[in-house]
Amino acid sequence: MARPKIALIGAGQIGGTLAHLAALKELGDVVLFDIADGTPQGKALDIAESGPVEGFDAALKGTTDYADIAGADVCIVTAGVPRKPGMSRDDLLGINLKVMKSVGEGIRDNAPDAFVICITNPLDAMVWALQQYSGLPAEKVVGMAGVLDSARFRHFLSVEFDVSMKDVSAFVLGGHGDTMVPLTRYSTVAGIPLPDLVEMGWTTQDKLDAIVQRTRDGGAEIVGLLKTGSAFYAPAASAIEMAEAYLKDQKRVLPCAAWVDGALGLKGMYVGVPTVIGAGGIERIVDIKMTKDEQSMFDNSVEAVKGLVEACKGIDGNLG
Ligand code: APR
Repeated sequence: MARPKIALIGAGQIGGTLAHLAALKELGDVVLFDIADGTPQGKALDIAESGPVEGFDAALKGTTDYADIAGADVCIVTAGVPRKPGMSRDDLLGINLKVMKSVGEGIRDNAPDAFVICITNPLDAMVWALQQYSGLPAEKVVGMAGVLDSARFRHFLSVEFDVSMKDVSAFVLGGHGDTMVPLTRYSTVAGIPLPDLVEMGWTTQDKLDAIVQRTRDGGAEIVGLLKTGSAFYAPAASAIEMAEAYLKDQKRVLPCAAWVDGALGLKGMYVGVPTVIGAGGIERIVDIKMTKDEQSMFDNSVEAVKGLVEACKGIDGNLG
């Protein structure tokens, strides 16, 4: 059987890391697309030249021509402009909306059967626009945010508890941004929920609150340190986990920005929710029950996402 084809739209910091990880994990052949001629070709060749050392079998190609993504099984979209220090994800809206139009049309015309993972920010609005511009089925167009946000949460918790990151699971809901909702009740160390760990004296409520806040600000913390761009290693690893779940029909339960119509009391919108990812794309939305407090935090996040979507509609009247 031919290897799967993975198209990476955007060959910047995240795109290059995605290509490297996809090759190292032998997920398939990789096509790196970018409008900056030379960048995708250079990165593809550089990674291909690491193949004999790493011992992977994967073809890598760099291109500025959408025709080269033809028939891709997975498209991961990072095309656009990342945040600069002091810039919010929302500041990026106008610039990246235009990028989503060209990328959506490129995917529609060349890879209409692909599973599409959007990473470009502001995430929840961009994945919504990308689905509209591409016209692909909503269950095949998703945004990567929750896996990254929960990975950050898991990392901070593992350091606080001095236990393996493997044994920490975390649950994050809502939009990718300052309003995201880390659910401590559903976040555990080897199955023990965080509130119980507070009672057991493993940490204090104040420390846990600080970790939740640090998780919400996780993207900005990296931007502040890097100064010239935003996070790329953890975002790339997170999207690769989602791509692998689709390509291998793993039925992974992963939080991501998915189209929700009915579950969690929502009517037709993209927002971060727990999902099952398998060969059908988003195969299920996990319709959890929230406490009053959780629901009000989630509602707040939903409103923030709706605001961004309305702003997109204001910029491009054809969206709706
Ligand atoms: N089509 C294709 N590629 C484009 C387009 C376009 N219309 N516009 C810009 N690009 C390319 C740029 O040439 C650049 O190589 O997108 C790439 C973006 O790469 P970086 O600037 O390195 O950004 P990166 O760190 O990879 O982040 C990409 O993901 O997390 C989000 O906020 C982040 O929106 C940003 C995106």
